[in-house]
Amino acid sequence: MTAKLLQTLPPDLDQARLPHHVAVIMDGNGRWAKQKGFPRIIGHRQGVDALKDLLRCCKDWGIGALTAYAFSTENWGRPLEEVDFLMVLFERILRRELTEMCDEGVKITFVGDLESLPLSLQAEIQHSMAATAKNQAIHFTVAINYGSRHEIIKVCRQLAGAVQKGEIKLEQVDESLFQQHLYTAGESDPDFLIRTSGEMRLSNFLLWQIAYTEIYFTPTLWPNFDRQEFHQALLDYQKRDRRFGKA
Ligand code: FPP
Repeated sequence: MTAKLLQTLPPDLDQARLPHHVAVIMDGNGRWAKQKGFPRIIGHRQGVDALKDLLRCCKDWGIGALTAYAFSTENWGRPLEEVDFLMVLFERILRRELTEMCDEGVKITFVGDLESLPLSLQAEIQHSMAATAKNQAIHFTVAINYGSRHEIIKVCRQLAGAVQKGEIKLEQVDESLFQQHLYTAGESDPDFLIRTSGEMRLSNFLLWQIAYTEIYFTPTLWPNFDRQEFHQALLDYQKRDRRFGKA
């Protein structure tokens, strides 16, 4: 099947049983580039195209939310020139894609410790969030400088501080209140998490939010993850019986 034929939902997928929210750990850009004899940064550039098409595909097929792990709190440990390249790439993409995101009804938000990012990137992030805030076709969340343990500690500190100041009672701290303080407050938890490149780990991504998420690992490298691959992943998802801990 060509990508063109996949512009509408493939008939073997049940529209009523699609995940509402898909999350992706986009792994394998570096290996994709290495296989082709290119520098790693070319893999990241190609990865952006794969992400763009997945976002458009989710919208075309009626999936309401996509969350992508673009940069983890641990990724600062990469070579300086790769980190610098990624920061400039994020900024450029936001600037370049804003008009199209507005035209296509994409609402973009960011999760993570954004205050440690370069100021020019922070400005672009704020601008793109404000400009797309009212869009409703799809909610696109990008995790940048994101780490789940950091997020959970941040919530603990906020809630402990509120208890200490007498603003809330200890008994009021429950799952619902906790959730309201996460970066992802207001968005439903992912129904389906996809990690590419054959690595089978979660790498500190959305640990609270994926308690009941279906997880799919594929050996495909991220730049090669296209609509056909997504189709296969969704067929796998639709075979699963989601019981949420019940019998
Ligand atoms: C993992 O591959 C990929 C990344 C760390 C960066 C992914 C970022 C993008 C595709 C850009 C998205 C940007 C926005 C703003 C929407 P890797 O380098 O770990 O690959 P490897 O495991 O093969 O080395």
